[in-house]
Amino acid sequence: MSRKPKSLPGTAGPTNATRHQILMCPPDFYGVEYVINPWMDGNIHREVATKARRQWRGLHAVLSDLAEVKLVDPRKGVPDLVFTANAGLVMGDQVILSHFRHPERQREEPHFRDWFEKNGFKVTEMPSGTHFEGAGDALFLRDSPYLFMGYGFRTALEAANVINEVLQVEVVPLGLVDERFYHLDTCFCPLTGGYLIYYPKAFDERSRAEIERRVPAAKRHAVSERDALSFACNAVDTGAAVVLNDATPELESVLKSWGFEVVRTPLDQFLLAGGAAKCLTLRLNEPRPTAASRKAPAAPILSRRVEFRGHILDNGTLSRVMDVIPNAGGTYRVAEFAPGVRKDDESRILMEVSAPSERALEGMFLQLLALGGNPQEERLSSAQVVVADLDGVAPENFYSTTIYATEVLIDGTWRRVEKQRMDAVVVLAEGRPVCRLIRDVRRGDRIIVGSDGIRIHVPREAGEDQNEFKFMGSAVSSERRVEAAVDHIAWEMDRIRQQGGRIVWVAGPVVIHTGGGPHLERLVRGGYVSALLGGNAIAVHDLEHAVYGTSLGVDLARGVPVGGGHRHHITVINMIRRAGSIARAVETGVIKSGLFHRLVKSKIPYCLAGSIRDDGPLPDTLMDLVRAQEEYARLLEGAEMIVMLSSMLHSIGVGNMTPAGVKIISVDINPAVATKLADRGSTDSTPIVTDVGLFLNILARKLESLRG
Ligand code: ARG
Repeated sequence: MSRKPKSLPGTAGPTNATRHQILMCPPDFYGVEYVINPWMDGNIHREVATKARRQWRGLHAVLSDLAEVKLVDPRKGVPDLVFTANAGLVMGDQVILSHFRHPERQREEPHFRDWFEKNGFKVTEMPSGTHFEGAGDALFLRDSPYLFMGYGFRTALEAANVINEVLQVEVVPLGLVDERFYHLDTCFCPLTGGYLIYYPKAFDERSRAEIERRVPAAKRHAVSERDALSFACNAVDTGAAVVLNDATPELESVLKSWGFEVVRTPLDQFLLAGGAAKCLTLRLNEPRPTAASRKAPAAPILSRRVEFRGHILDNGTLSRVMDVIPNAGGTYRVAEFAPGVRKDDESRILMEVSAPSERALEGMFLQLLALGGNPQEERLSSAQVVVADLDGVAPENFYSTTIYATEVLIDGTWRRVEKQRMDAVVVLAEGRPVCRLIRDVRRGDRIIVGSDGIRIHVPREAGEDQNEFKFMGSAVSSERRVEAAVDHIAWEMDRIRQQGGRIVWVAGPVVIHTGGGPHLERLVRGGYVSALLGGNAIAVHDLEHAVYGTSLGVDLARGVPVGGGHRHHITVINMIRRAGSIARAVETGVIKSGLFHRLVKSKIPYCLAGSIRDDGPLPDTLMDLVRAQEEYARLLEGAEMIVMLSSMLHSIGVGNMTPAGVKIISVDINPAVATKLADRGSTDSTPIVTDVGLFLNILARKLESLRG
């Protein structure tokens, strides 16, 4: 037994001058015997053995002309052993043995290991949990320092660090996203001279950008879907020729223009198992990448630790975490897991999350923090700050806020972010972190960027099925349940009023149409309204009602349209315009009743935010929306409860400005609207599906009875 391979050329030498050595395995026991990729689905034993053998011999004959072919013995019971590309990753006299994802193929590992050992290769194994499928998922880009590694279906992202360490090459992980292209060699084929044919749609966005960054446009060709589906990218490059199952004339002409001979050899019998030319071969004299730099390349996969606690199993946090990570192209390892044993027990999980770039890791980490994860870094780093270089523009990579209480680490202390709201940036104003809208950023402001030194407090809500009333996630709609919910809301409101807290109301014109105006007035009188936020319409309809008894021309008392009613609302708008403002109209006696009359008399502030469809508008309506947003935000400051009454537009605006912890009641006759407004990923909100006029009536009655 010779320990040294007879004719391996060692690790150096120009690629194209060397005759390739290729490993193949005769298809004596080939067949589709299980389904581990979508090509195999429905194809169990559809292959015709004689035809498969003929096609394999065809490929073998072509390659024997162009290269030196070696064989590994076929074995019964391992039908995919023919796909020698998956034996391992060879470089020089080293091989990293595959560790297959599926048990069906794990049975091939000892055979391939035997062959490599007998043929003088230094064999390295992957750590036990790390799946890796050899040259099916790891391909050198010719004349470059890079090894591209596919992950997502078979090979684990973590394999990149092992390869990097063992072979000392720069590994570029590429995320595969189309399960038909489950191995990198099904959609990506580097060719002699630094050329590349590939199918971009098989990769995630980040990976497409990585490829474009590393292979110049003139040297890469994106194949058509048709070529991709006939496995054109699963080609064997022998230096001078490209051998493949099939190619369109378009692809053929590209390859020819690059100086390659194109050899077609039909392999449909192997397509049934999801493989073609390249899968059936493994290059054995793979040189070390020529352009590899001398200094050791950095590990491609970075990781961070994050912990989740609470009822994370019941409330869906854990499954959301498990979604976020792969969607961000990352992966995880559970370092510790302590599930709650009894119903009321909390669970705890400590995870090590990894991603293929610093950017990807940071983006993923921020999403995990927003789900309530606590960063578990050995040494916590302070929040990073970048100085804004333009007015109204945040530095790239700015940290964007959520509704949840947030802390940032500055000079060794965690400081609570002030004026918490979502979709803002955090500015350090005299050392204090404050939320600020991007449009309000000023050049020279110190803005937090990245994800270091940021902690988000997502409330750990209790399980869904507690008996006591709580502000709940699902809509309250039945009559009895509306009454029960109102009981609790009334109690809560009265408490806030007694403690001098603020209750802010957001209301749409439906409040007036449904006859809710007088009931809301009762609430103003009772001291339950600290501010009212709305648009032009609610005021127009209320004032029209005060003057004519109609709302949009409909007599509210009788529910019928009145003659000439269509011009009531613009006549009223005109009256208010003449008076100068709603307040002036009240003072001069033009308006003698109604909700806005009451607000003015009780000195309750209101803000009307305009929109494109407004009639008039009233002189009070702010048509400058930036100003309107500012005014809304001012009136919302310190609110403990917000009641949203049938106005989707203004309610969404308000939701964006409001931190978690503020109780939100959203009332709408449309369940979808009520639920949408209340859906803030926390339990502070209650959607109530009912007629808003009716709701106001029972609420006012309840509050009056509470006060006796
Ligand atoms: N049936 C095999 C599998 O699913 C096909 C392998 C094809 N090999 C390849 N390098 N793409 O694993």
